[in-house]
Amino acid sequence: MIILSIETSCDETAASIVRVKGRKVEVLADVVSSQIKLHQKFGGVVPQLAARAHLQNMVPVLEKAFKKAGIAKKKIDYIAITKGPGLIPALMIGVNAAKALSYTLDKPLVEVNHLEGHIYANWLEKEKADLYTLKKMEFPVLCLIVSGGHTQLVLMKKDMRFQIVGETVDDAVGEAFDKVAKILELGYPGGPMIENLAVVGNGEAFAFPRPMMGSKDFNFSFSGLKTAVLYETQKGDKTDKKYQADIAASFQVAALDVLVLKALKAAKKYGVKNVFLGGGVSANKALRKALWEKFKKELPEVNVDFPPFKFTTDNALMIAIAGYYHIAQGKGITDCKHLKADMNLRLK
Ligand SMILES: Nc1ncnc2c1ncn2[C@@H]1O[C@H](COP(=O)(O)OP(=O)(O)OP(=O)(O)O)[C@@H](O)[C@H]1O
Ligand SMILES: [Mg+2]
Repeated sequence: MIILSIETSCDETAASIVRVKGRKVEVLADVVSSQIKLHQKFGGVVPQLAARAHLQNMVPVLEKAFKKAGIAKKKIDYIAITKGPGLIPALMIGVNAAKALSYTLDKPLVEVNHLEGHIYANWLEKEKADLYTLKKMEFPVLCLIVSGGHTQLVLMKKDMRFQIVGETVDDAVGEAFDKVAKILELGYPGGPMIENLAVVGNGEAFAFPRPMMGSKDFNFSFSGLKTAVLYETQKGDKTDKKYQADIAASFQVAALDVLVLKALKAAKKYGVKNVFLGGGVSANKALRKALWEKFKKELPEVNVDFPPFKFTTDNALMIAIAGYYHIAQGKGITDCKHLKADMNLRLK
């Protein structure tokens, strides 16, 4: 089965073409055109500019994907498309491109939730370049989604069934990383910069709050932590490298403490077999290490694993993989007349 997938929910125009045979996934093409440079000067993604850039990039990205895959367009069996959640002007470009392809090639569409993509990136086990195996999954699975727009603990008792057991009540953790980087005037996106600075900083230099750490639920809150960082930096010298690094490290430790503890508590409560990370912040090595060490110490029977680094931030391959599981279950298959974008799409 050959799947073309398209992703335009935020600031990456992406397309991939995969051939799936049994558990083997051959990546024929995986193209990502990033708009980071465009949005950098605004310190965040500007939806209208993102949409305009998607419009410019969509056809070249598709052309590049088909050229790289070396197959005729007619050879694809399905078109998997990110329906939401995301920025509506951005989503609509990908959705319209998918509809046009579906209409002209007469191929079915598969609606994919962007977060299903982040989750299913964990199913990929690398064999060699461009060749992956889909893991034989043992359920229940708990996935901690840590991205630019979401922070959720998602429980899965079987493939493609999602129960959100906890989530942020205000900001997403990725957004907090970006905001702290902005406060420190480090640039956008802030996550990788905070991570790099934190390596040389002292995580105990500032006692930042761990919001909702003691709450009985599995929810999160990051806005108070963000504000605490803002107030602290109004007292210190933001141009001082050591000070910057200590702020970054202390912020990161506070954010990770809450994420890891809540993941552990949820894993215990639901008796899960696997714990995964999904979304851009899952690229953070300190988070991976903290999660892994905590589980090794307190819940060693649970397997903790992470998505390949390449597929942590937005990409289309993860959409193809989630699309494949949709197809396997006959879930979310639609046509060009019925497909719509949905900026508030929830996992279910
Ligand atoms: N190494 C890192 N450490 C911490 N944060 C990181 C790292 N790399 C990327 N990020 C953060 O990940 C976020 C981007 O992730 P992603 O692309 O999944 O978000 P999004 O697609 O905008 O949001 P969503 O997936 O919720 O729709 C940004 O906030 C970025 O700062
Ligand atoms: Mg994302």
